[in-house]
Amino acid sequence: MGLSFVLDPEVTPDLGARITTLWTDVSNAGGAVGFLPPVSTERVRPVAEQQLRGVADGPDRLLTGYDRESGRLAAVLFFESQRFELMEHWRLLKRVMVHPDFQGRGYGADLLAEAERLARAWGLAGLRLTLRGGLGLETFYARSGYKEVGRVPGAIRVADGDDRDDVTMWLGLHWPGSTRTDPARPVLARLDPH
Ligand SMILES: CC(C)(COP(=O)(O)OP(=O)(O)OC[C@H]1O[C@@H](n2cnc3c(N)ncnc32)[C@H](O)[C@@H]1OP(=O)(O)O)[C@@H](O)C(=O)NCCC(=O)NCCS
Repeated sequence: MGLSFVLDPEVTPDLGARITTLWTDVSNAGGAVGFLPPVSTERVRPVAEQQLRGVADGPDRLLTGYDRESGRLAAVLFFESQRFELMEHWRLLKRVMVHPDFQGRGYGADLLAEAERLARAWGLAGLRLTLRGGLGLETFYARSGYKEVGRVPGAIRVADGDDRDDVTMWLGLHWPGSTRTDPARPVLARLDPH
């Protein structure tokens, strides 16, 4: 058991279809990844295609995790650039999701651990994400070291009379310069890693 990770897989129509299906299944199980259930693959597909275009054309990156036993795509996240030079030293984690068939086995925590390992190797100063309040997700991320750094009360309306907080979390990274694998950006060397 466990996940086998593939970073930046080739963005093929087959991969797009698999990610769309995973995203739809996660959403229909109540996951907070941009949709409310019930949602069809037809609605998810254009959003998935747009997210994947940022990987195919750059500068975003994609981490996929395959269940070793079944070979199925089980987990996904995107590292999204802000496309803004002053924010190139960190990435926004988007669409962090584990297929409902595989939730609760530690795959989500493994996915975050792999994302953190990569981010450190790339020399990033931090990883940021936003989440929908009311689902316990703060606890999930806090277990992996993320700290809540912002909360907009009631900014996400999931139904009439059901407004959820929009929560921002941040994982500050120390970068071990010697293990940096991407071309070093001079600006990073001047930044306080904390
Ligand atoms: C959130 C998600 C990625 C977690 O993945 P997972 O594989 O189920 O989580 P894990 O089994 O690795 O759990 C890791 C820890 O977080 C806790 N945890 C996981 N989901 C939680 C939740 N919703 N609320 C509170 N705690 C949670 C687990 O209890 C576990 O704690 P432990 O280490 O003390 O046992 C997954 O449930 C998912 O895809 N959800 C739907 C999509 C979604 O909402 N993504 C978040 C976008 S911001």
